[in-house]
Amino acid sequence: MTDRYAVVGNPINHSKSPSIHQLFAQQCAQDLAYETLEAPLDGFAEAVLTFFAKGGAGLNVTVPFKEEAWSLVSSLTPRARLAGAVNTLYRDQAGQLCGDTTDGVGLVEDIIHNHQGRIEARRVLVLGAGGAVRGVLEPLLQQRPQQLLVANRTAAKAQQLAQIFADQGPISGCGFEAIEGQFDLIINGTSASLQGELPPLPAGVLAADGWCYDLMYGAEPTPFMRWAQQQGAAKALDGLGMLVEQAAESFFIWRGVRPPTAGVIAAVRKKLLA
Ligand code: ATR
Repeated sequence: MTDRYAVVGNPINHSKSPSIHQLFAQQCAQDLAYETLEAPLDGFAEAVLTFFAKGGAGLNVTVPFKEEAWSLVSSLTPRARLAGAVNTLYRDQAGQLCGDTTDGVGLVEDIIHNHQGRIEARRVLVLGAGGAVRGVLEPLLQQRPQQLLVANRTAAKAQQLAQIFADQGPISGCGFEAIEGQFDLIINGTSASLQGELPPLPAGVLAADGWCYDLMYGAEPTPFMRWAQQQGAAKALDGLGMLVEQAAESFFIWRGVRPPTAGVIAAVRKKLLA
């Protein structure tokens, strides 16, 4: 029987997850169907429970339900517990609903394996302190950066995040105006790009040969990527590779098979630019 999967969110029409997972399934000869599921804003839990009650095998969770999914599940993986969000749902052998998060792994995989980048021993600056940033901090710290500074418009939120992750590595938090020093990797996790804006960054903050990575992506370079190019960044990357890598990690959780991602990233990019 064909196993059924879906991505649940609101809105969900433009999700790229169905085409990504269908490509993975073709590549790995896996018999599965993957669709979109729009849950009412006040009906997430019901939509999820109904999906599984009808035999669904797994769900991805996207905006705005990742935190609600975290509260809903019976068990969390350690990385999801710390991230405060869940983007992958499945049932264990006892039928209990379990939650994991694959966003942070997706980011690190993209930087290290797709772009041959390095985080270890590097000075890393992360912009933003919302849900997206919280989800990537532990995997970044696991790479043992020399320093990880979280800077945010609202300084207190960056400081709170730094406290939560303090025992995972050398992390600190501040407001944008208090950023000091130079960084080898700057990751934009604010939603400023959505408004066509750029977080205010001091001159000289990007080290020579530094890399920049925007968690957002689009057909055009984001304002942050354009800023990176102006600063002479060695690489100015967007989050499309992360999107495909987080999907690959979900696929692995569900199917026990790790799909190759390079061709899928190229296909999604081509469609985005078309
Ligand atoms: P997400 O799930 O995308 O992380 P979020 O939890 O609402 O969404 O967090 C949005 C982040 O983008 C926050 O860090 C926010 O800063 P504040 O905590 O000060 O609100 C940041 N942000 C949003 N718009 C911004 C802008 N125009 N300039 C700089 N930072 C911005």
